[in-house]
Amino acid sequence: MRHFLEIDQLTETEALALIERAFFFKKTKAYPAYRQSSVANLFYENSTRTRISFELAALQLSIPVVNVDLQHSSEQKGESMADTIRTLSAMGIQMAVIRHKEEYIPHTLAKTCGESMHIINAGDGTHAHPSQALLDMMTIMEKKPALAGLKIAVVGDVRHSRVANSLQCLSALLGIGELVLIAPEPWQPVALSYGRLTSSLQEGLSGADVVMCLRVQRERLLAEEHLDLDDYRKHYALTRKTLSYAKKGAMVMHPGPINRGVEIDSDVADGSQSVILQQVTNGVFMRMAILEAVGLS
Ligand code: CP
Repeated sequence: MRHFLEIDQLTETEALALIERAFFFKKTKAYPAYRQSSVANLFYENSTRTRISFELAALQLSIPVVNVDLQHSSEQKGESMADTIRTLSAMGIQMAVIRHKEEYIPHTLAKTCGESMHIINAGDGTHAHPSQALLDMMTIMEKKPALAGLKIAVVGDVRHSRVANSLQCLSALLGIGELVLIAPEPWQPVALSYGRLTSSLQEGLSGADVVMCLRVQRERLLAEEHLDLDDYRKHYALTRKTLSYAKKGAMVMHPGPINRGVEIDSDVADGSQSVILQQVTNGVFMRMAILEAVGLS
């Protein structure tokens, strides 16, 4: 894989092979060593899970990794992102993991980075978060491997969610039986690539095997929208009561970070049905599979 930019670049076979490889790493703890490779993490937007799991994934594969301190890099002196990537490439770095608040920045960098550099998208604006979709699907398949019979419900700010976008693409690719996206009208996207929309939490959750709760992006809300958080909570929060609309024992997922008491209650996030921390655990193995596939290309 030359670059890892979005789910749509993958075939079903390629997506399943990445997930299988992640399961292999998790099960066997047999990690090959790729000491000749190297990776740089460039996170222009805050991150805990994605940045640290890409770093751990590299370390577990014996890949030298640098976390570029962007606050003190020469970009603060006006150097462009493209020149930063070319500079890292000239030092022998082969993979750059990029997170940015603007859509398609990793795609743009992939066009200008040169032959010996590989770009990995760690989340670009509201567009895509492909490694998150793969680790989420891995977590689902660990408990519920029969994807064609599954109903997945996603609730929250679907319109601005790169997690929801990438999950739609992967659900289409792998043939998820039913995908329902639940959101109040202001957070409904104009179009979906897969699944259907509803504004009713009860109807959307009914019969769901998996419930994925999206983060309320308070930093964006304060700047751009006047959505009443109490009203959102009243109609869309995942609580013990609203979780009961889903199938008994439904998996509870959240990409993180969580706003406890806003989109999800603590007793649900920490409850027996929650696999939120398994998602985080699987993120390391999934990113090992991605680094290996990109690094070997
Ligand atoms: N899910 C996710 O992308 O989390 P971070 O922002 O902590 O990386």
